[in-house]
Amino acid sequence: MKLVSKTLRPSVDHTNSASSLANLTPTLKAVAALRDAARDCKACDLWKTGTQTVFGEGPSRAQIMFVGEQPGDQEDLAGRPFVGPAGKLLDQALEQAGVDRAKVYVTNVVKHFKWIAATRGKKRIHKKPRYSEINACRPWLDAELRVVKPQILVCLGSTAAQSLLGREFSVTRQRGQLIDSPLARFVMATVHPSSILRAPDDNARHMQMQAFVNDLQKVAALARKAEAP
Ligand code: URA
Repeated sequence: MKLVSKTLRPSVDHTNSASSLANLTPTLKAVAALRDAARDCKACDLWKTGTQTVFGEGPSRAQIMFVGEQPGDQEDLAGRPFVGPAGKLLDQALEQAGVDRAKVYVTNVVKHFKWIAATRGKKRIHKKPRYSEINACRPWLDAELRVVKPQILVCLGSTAAQSLLGREFSVTRQRGQLIDSPLARFVMATVHPSSILRAPDDNARHMQMQAFVNDLQKVAALARKAEAP
């Protein structure tokens, strides 16, 4: 259900530049209001080729927030994050780790799908976002963090980890470790689920999935710790 109607949106379109975005987002106090305002975002050029803004989703006071890179092809069409193959793998891993997906907030550092056309056929090939695009989108993620106030923040993959934890961050070396950060009480990074989908064979996929589930089990343990009085 749409909670904020179009007519309640700010009459001036503040969302068409990165600097005005930074002024607008602090005035919006709920995820629904943020999502509604982000629909018209033109802070970078990705709105021109993406079908729609794919905003974060989940309980507005979720204890755990997962941050990925950007919506993929299926997310772009559905308008919802992590509903395609990587999202399904994330769901399986969360279930195996004992984390209830319905209780987590999932979002991305960039909220439009960046793609290039395949040389043959109609396929849209994911393209990594540029620093300027990540930067332009950042006020939305900052606002999600401010409103949701997760106790546990988990970066999925190096784009999210380097955006939020610094450009020197290495997911390979630092995955599963608690990182000191003002962003949340517990902050951690792990691999992006799409990296597991790209594993060269079944054995590698199985091993990578197990390592991913291990990291998510640490998240489940942190959630229990955060809940303890
Ligand atoms: N990959 C991401 O990083 N985010 C999504 O929402 C889907 C795939």
